[in-house]
Amino acid sequence: MHRELIHLTVNGERYEVAVPPQKLLLDVLREDLGLTGAKRGCDDSSCGACTVLVDGLPVLACAAIASCHQEAQITTVEGLAAGGELTPVQVAYGEAGGSQCGFCTPGFMMTIHALLAQNPNPSDAEIREALSSNLCRCTGYMQIYEAIRLAMKRAQQPAEARS
Ligand code: FES
Ligand code: FES
Repeated sequence: MHRELIHLTVNGERYEVAVPPQKLLLDVLREDLGLTGAKRGCDDSSCGACTVLVDGLPVLACAAIASCHQEAQITTVEGLAAGGELTPVQVAYGEAGGSQCGFCTPGFMMTIHALLAQNPNPSDAEIREALSSNLCRCTGYMQIYEAIRLAMKRAQQPAEARS
């Protein structure tokens, strides 16, 4: 099968891989780069489990051609906890019980991080709108909303009140 050499920047690291020209970003991440955080949860771009950030914006990696994103900064769930330290959203997610089976969690994580980076104080309607492309089959939505509100509340507190 014909392959072409492409370059991707993922979680701040530059990778060079030889892949078929139309290979999907999700498959390159999982099969070629060994980054299995993003999941395939459907075959019709409807679940959001494959969500990654491309230049800070949520993108369905199952519907993106890898070679089209060679100039972009790609972030996967593996890239969130810089230096092994969980982000405030990840901490709040754990505390609020946002993960049940956990399959949808990487996708939700990426969408939530993008939302709060753009809008640190979203309304409930804005949170619902942002999460509308992510499905949780365990129906843990209340805990997920609670985790977001907890992370937002902490971000608004002065540093000394958080410690
Ligand atoms: S795997 Fe379901 S939207 Fe990408
Ligand atoms: S926690 Fe199981 S699908 Fe969301």
